[in-house]
Amino acid sequence: MSEIFEPKNIIVTGGCGFIGSNFVHYVVNNHPGVHVTVLDKLTYAGNPENIAGLPSDRVELVVGDICDAELLDRIVPGHDAIVHYAAESHNDNSIADPEPFLRTNVEGTFRLLEAVRKYGVRYHHVSTDEVYGDLALDDPAKFTEETPYHPSSPYSSTKASSDMLVRAWTRTYGLRTTISNCSNNYGPYQHVEKFIPRQITNIIDGVRPKLYGRGENVRDWIHTEDHSSAVWDILTKGRMGETYLIGADGEKNNITVLRMILEAMGRDPEDFDWVADRPGHDRRYAIDSTKLQRELGWRPAHTDFAGGLKATIDWYVANESWWRPAKEATEARYRAQAIFHVLGSHAPYGTYNCTGSGVVKSWADIARAVFEAANGNGDRVVPVSIADYYAGAAGPVVPRSTFPSSSRSGSTCPTGRRSLRSTCPCFGIQLYYQNEPMVHEGLADGRALHALYCMVNCAVKLISVIKLDGIEY
Ligand code: NAD
Ligand code: DAU
Repeated sequence: MSEIFEPKNIIVTGGCGFIGSNFVHYVVNNHPGVHVTVLDKLTYAGNPENIAGLPSDRVELVVGDICDAELLDRIVPGHDAIVHYAAESHNDNSIADPEPFLRTNVEGTFRLLEAVRKYGVRYHHVSTDEVYGDLALDDPAKFTEETPYHPSSPYSSTKASSDMLVRAWTRTYGLRTTISNCSNNYGPYQHVEKFIPRQITNIIDGVRPKLYGRGENVRDWIHTEDHSSAVWDILTKGRMGETYLIGADGEKNNITVLRMILEAMGRDPEDFDWVADRPGHDRRYAIDSTKLQRELGWRPAHTDFAGGLKATIDWYVANESWWRPAKEATEARYRAQAIFHVLGSHAPYGTYNCTGSGVVKSWADIARAVFEAANGNGDRVVPVSIADYYAGAAGPVVPRSTFPSSSRSGSTCPTGRRSLRSTCPCFGIQLYYQNEPMVHEGLADGRALHALYCMVNCAVKLISVIKLDGIEY
């Protein structure tokens, strides 16, 4: 073990987010001689409430962007370490709109490394096990520090990129750095967009939880307090230039976790909706934390997942005022993303004269318009610049004859097999306007043609809504 590093003044980036704020609490509670400067942009995921009530002589909040080099020049001098948590952290958001992930996760890390180089401070980089890609469900292997990088999503590819920057800057410029790659965290203060809080708060709201795909994907759950203690150990005792994997042997598949939540909340364990899978969904993550445990003596304290989950549920039940303000916008974003995934990822690009008065050139463009509109305007669909969206590439033409006129009637499913109103996913567009979620069952069981008709119907309905809003297209 190398010499113990004893920081007195640290910067915690992203300290108003879920895991960063937990680390700030951990430091305040366990290391009385340490002052923390939180640098946080307060994006939709950052909430100053997360660190409210901590002593003002121990914790200072600087609201700002890690990409702001001038700001870093002002605040980094005088500190002896940066612990870098700030990130765009949600996979689903990265699939719908990768750009902020590139900026914060890659450029932001670059800016911090440049400041570290300039002012000679110690740097710890908080990363994710997702940089390693995924493991097969039936593979006994786990990720180790030697596993090759193989990220799958826009989010994980930007985290992998940031890790690479840290490694290169360390070797080239001799920076004093460490990296940790942790598995899925759970606990209080997690944003309601993430799996566990989303399902808990849905149940509180009387809405059925949403399970992606077949629910077989495995995540390796660790309590966020264990993540914090591990990061502290690596910051103070880790060897320079080294990577440490953080995990607590908490592998569970999603359907198991969801049923545990439902049962703990007194519901039928089958009372949930199967919904369309996340594109590129990683199958399994699993961490081998032997190096961290052997070298630094770290051990997880929260080894009872059921108990930790119950305490987390109780926290969300007792702290509705904390999560309520974010809930509606989060679910609106999910509804928009669902449309984006169905129309954007699976539908053929094509030209379709839907009403005789306009031409739709690309389903993905429509989906993007809806997504952005929902991001900016909640449930109202008012695309900002519809002309821009419709000016995109046409791609291969889908023959008009593919879509019988009944698909535009809005009353009968074009396959003639079922009523739109009961089960057809295209009705999701209408449900979306009524604040209800979509269920893409047409895609789940291989009824591809049915799904295709549904997508077309979605678009037709969407267009009529756009027209109703008085926008020319
Ligand atoms: P989060 O989304 O809850 O919080 C991110 C925080 O970063 C927010 O407070 C946000 O305001 C801030 N932020 C975003 N962009 C910023 C910018 N440009 N400048 C300054 N602040 C900015 O994320 P989280 O779940 O707490 O994750 C924190 C870190 O841990 C991330 O780096 C993530 O990749 C990593 N991680 C997360 C998990 C997990 O399970 N959540 C697991 C392993 C690693
Ligand atoms: O592994 C570490 C990573 O864990 C971190 O790097 C990320 O920042 C963090 O968000 C988390 O990523 P996941 O994508 O695994 O977490 P999420 O909570 O989004 O989803 C967990 C699992 O649950 C995943 O298999 C997708 C599934 N899921 C998610 C949601 C939101 C559902 O089945 N239904 C849902 O509604």
